[in-house]
Amino acid sequence: MSEKITIGKDEFVPLFSEEQVQNRIKELALQISADYKSKVPIFIGVLNGSFLFMSDLIRYLTINCEIDFFKLSSYGDEKISSGKVKMIKELNCEVNDRDIIIVEDIVDTGLSIKYIEELFAEKKPETMKVISLLVKPGSLKYEVKIDYIGFNIPDKFVIGYGMDYAQKYRNLRGIYVLNDKGE
Ligand code: IMP
Ligand code: MG
Repeated sequence: MSEKITIGKDEFVPLFSEEQVQNRIKELALQISADYKSKVPIFIGVLNGSFLFMSDLIRYLTINCEIDFFKLSSYGDEKISSGKVKMIKELNCEVNDRDIIIVEDIVDTGLSIKYIEELFAEKKPETMKVISLLVKPGSLKYEVKIDYIGFNIPDKFVIGYGMDYAQKYRNLRGIYVLNDKGE
């Protein structure tokens, strides 16, 4: 796997290689394919971070599916949450009476997922589950249920595989973690 990445004073070191990410996504896709056998769930990706995860996840499925995306704004260009979420690009599909699976790149405080859960509950889907490639259990501030988790990770900032720092580094194939000074 590639070496560390230096961004200004910040140093990012490899956390998961492309192969580790892909292997875990294959496992998740097989589990979902079994859980949703003979159903056609709608995978609803939270832009921008989930776009790579979603595209790989659905290609490993052995069932039919539909997809849609919407976009939230919460972080701006910072590494810490602003504590506010707003919808800045709406969903197009009808979710009423459908099985929906919300696809996130990473759950940090849980604020986004809490907002999404409340928003979608109003739309009366048949079932609603959440999948997140990464979860930071140590950062959770809201009570949320993540049904499928790729990896639990430490409470540190990560980039790559869809996840950005100031909109960059989403195109890295692996996942990198901020190496705090003094560690
Ligand atoms: P939450 O609402 O605090 O759970 O934050 C969720 C969103 O913040 C994720 O969907 C990401 O887009 C972004 N985010 C949280 N942690 C990180 C990180 O370590 N790197 C990049 N983006 C992150
Ligand atoms: Mg996200």
